[in-house]
Amino acid sequence: MSSTAVIGLQWGDEGKGKIIDSLADGADLVVRYAGGNNAGHTVIVGSDKYVLHLIPGGILHPGTLNLIGRGLVVDLEALLEEMDGLIARGVPVEERLRIDGRAHVIFPYHRHIDGLVEQWLGAGRIGTTGRGIGPAYADKVSRTGIRVADLLHPEFFARRLKAALAEKNALIEKVHGHEPEDHANLQGRSLEIAERIRALIVDGGELVRSAYREGKRVLFEGAQGTMLDLDSGTYPFVTSSWTGIAGIAGGTGCPARWLDRALAVTKAYTTRVGEGPFPSELNGEVAERLRKAGNEYGATTGRPRRCGWFDAVVARYACEVNGLDGIILTNLDVLSGFGDLQVTTSYRHGDSLLPGFPAEATVLEQLQPVHQSLPGWNEDITGVRRFADLPAACQDYVRFLEQQMGTPIERISVGPDREQILVGEHGQLDLWN
Ligand code: GDP
Ligand code: IMO
Ligand code: MG
Repeated sequence: MSSTAVIGLQWGDEGKGKIIDSLADGADLVVRYAGGNNAGHTVIVGSDKYVLHLIPGGILHPGTLNLIGRGLVVDLEALLEEMDGLIARGVPVEERLRIDGRAHVIFPYHRHIDGLVEQWLGAGRIGTTGRGIGPAYADKVSRTGIRVADLLHPEFFARRLKAALAEKNALIEKVHGHEPEDHANLQGRSLEIAERIRALIVDGGELVRSAYREGKRVLFEGAQGTMLDLDSGTYPFVTSSWTGIAGIAGGTGCPARWLDRALAVTKAYTTRVGEGPFPSELNGEVAERLRKAGNEYGATTGRPRRCGWFDAVVARYACEVNGLDGIILTNLDVLSGFGDLQVTTSYRHGDSLLPGFPAEATVLEQLQPVHQSLPGWNEDITGVRRFADLPAACQDYVRFLEQQMGTPIERISVGPDREQILVGEHGQLDLWN
């Protein structure tokens, strides 16, 4: 198998960064296809911690090329900062990174408008990361966006920027009553950054297609999670891109039918950052214990993550809409010592049990989760490397999740480090075959 996708099953932060890094060892090309620097993907290598926002998770591997796909929105300043941060730590970024010229650019006015709209929404706000993601994708859809390759044509770029800024400044000044943004400085600075990244700008679709044709191993890296997907997620409390398997073809230029294997990462419990429905959410002491044990603070914004039990309704729905071949379960170690564990197995709304995951945010806010209780375990499992060595109750918990999802758990992560991973009872040692 030469193309594998690894996406998020829940509301993001499932541990995709760690998993991508561990699978990238055998990959020739790692490709991000959605989102921007709203993502925060943590990779731990011994005592070194890396948090990647825009740069794909194969960057630490010699011999692996990394592509920022055309489906991303790229904040130029954030890109530069991330590149320079890695270069300062000895990573030969320019050798290993490429950027699709069709990707869209996030400008400072997008970030500004993101904040203004959140303020405007007040209690109805989304709780965005404030990175300008929604406004940049809105421009793309309304055809006023500017793409990375446009930066290589200064006159064309200047015209597009002037037109975009005139419209944005009208919004910023007349609707929100804020100071307008300056055109000349922004134009100059953008062109300066363009010079710096000029050699990295490619036709990403062509790069992915020829890699696949040559039998190279291509790994697609999801950002965010299925429940934050613009169409499949808990709209309007979602991000502004297609985060699931369906986003890959559009976000890379790789034909949809060329994806050989679809995997998703899920935590052994659930977290969410930002506003929006979360049926299995916990409050009080258990939530606090989960947050502490799992170090559940956002990798991008540092916000405390909301915590809850594993929600099998969400997981089944996400397996279904993505058509998954397998699951990678993370943070199982965090549940050690919790006593009995609960899993949300269905939702009750009024007098009836819902048949699946409802579309309406209002229904999601009113429903009652139905739980199944399972015995917990106390042993520290962070050193376990074989499924058979997990405590019996822990094995049963994993089997229960697997049965609830109807999808095999192929890998189990028992700690943040690269090495803390084992093959599931129904998994294979080599994911590339
Ligand atoms: P991503 O956005 O999906 O890449 O996930 P984040 O990096 O935002 O958040 C996942 C957090 O969990 C990070 O702090 C990881 O270092 C950590 N992590 C990943 N896998 C495991 C695991 O199996 N156990 C524990 N305890 N932490 C993990
Ligand atoms: P990774 O890739 C968790 C959430 C935000 C907010 C909503 C919309 O690290 O899993 P946006 O800034 O995208 O317009 O915010 O989506 N969100 C994430 N939550 N992990 C992420 O990425 C996220 N990216 C966006 O908190 O609720
Ligand atoms: Mg994250």
